[in-house]
Amino acid sequence: MLLMRPHNQEPRTQMTDWLAPQTLQTAHGLPAFVYTDPDIAARERSMFRRTWQLVARSDQLAQPGDHVVEDIAGLPVLIARAPDGTLLGFHNVCRHRGGPLAIACGAGLKQLRCHYHGWTYDWDGVLRSGPELDALVDFDRAQVRLPAIAVVQWQGLVFASIEPEALFDALVDGIDARVASALHEVRFQRRVSYVAQCNWKAYIDNYLEGYHVPHIHPALNRLLDYRAYRTECLAGYALQSSPLDASESFYGLGEALYYQLWPNTMLNILPGRLQTNRVVPLGVDRCRIDFDYYYAPDVARDAAKIAADQDLAEVTQREDIDICERVQRAFASGSYNTGRVHPTREQGVHWFQERYRRALA
Ligand code: FES
Ligand SMILES: [Fe+2]
Repeated sequence: MLLMRPHNQEPRTQMTDWLAPQTLQTAHGLPAFVYTDPDIAARERSMFRRTWQLVARSDQLAQPGDHVVEDIAGLPVLIARAPDGTLLGFHNVCRHRGGPLAIACGAGLKQLRCHYHGWTYDWDGVLRSGPELDALVDFDRAQVRLPAIAVVQWQGLVFASIEPEALFDALVDGIDARVASALHEVRFQRRVSYVAQCNWKAYIDNYLEGYHVPHIHPALNRLLDYRAYRTECLAGYALQSSPLDASESFYGLGEALYYQLWPNTMLNILPGRLQTNRVVPLGVDRCRIDFDYYYAPDVARDAAKIAADQDLAEVTQREDIDICERVQRAFASGSYNTGRVHPTREQGVHWFQERYRRALA
């Protein structure tokens, strides 16, 4: 019997060490199983816990008692503004039997009291009191403590990390110098969330290259100058940028800046507008993408401009989700293993995949 190898499948030898670093000029992409294997998704959870995650906006946490509940790679977390004004983060998991300290985002949190049986913790995370706790023998409250997590505010955004492997500053090094004034003046307008039936990395790979823009995004392509499209890869992020086509741009003159912060946060900056994206894995073949829109004061007063901005983003996002879902089905089909990364149009993909290989190695 003749053993057939599927078309376009690279020799198996390419696959023996997919975690080994690859040089840009000869790189192959991550193999398909990395997008479909539940064991890989489980390994990614510990990777995510070492990264910085965009969990809130500063305006949600402005006043003492303001709080946000979130999830980082399956771990429930609580971010809160303490009475003394400090911003704190904890596992939202009571040390008694795992109950939540807070159930929803909101204001007016007076104390860290568990919803299940009422154990109450001080703002430093140490257990202070609880119903009938004196009945517990050999029980030292001072030893019972909510684990803390790291929290940072930057440019109106709040990031958290469970076990940070790197300083937050390294993640955004150089971004302030380029866009601080633009970020400073924008205010949150609304959130739109999408669910895509693809692995989170398929979505990020797609984000990180403009190679597909002329083929997948006709409307966006008219706005950008594809010939001048550039990608720069730094330690904490990749930046794609393009001048805006003056005859097509309803944003005015300027450039589009697309920052991808390792591993799953995007800052999409156009004149007068910031859009953040957070890509959250929901399973090996599903992810949610949260879009938060922020506008400068003059744009915030211009309903037509906001509608034009969000209509274009919606069309572009539907186009991206459609192609990513098709690619995910192809990865799961057995037809495809890996292919070449384009050295001048897909450097961002290479940057992300190299970081990913290091993180998982
Ligand atoms: S689980 Fe928190 S008090 Fe029981
Ligand atoms: Fe796209």
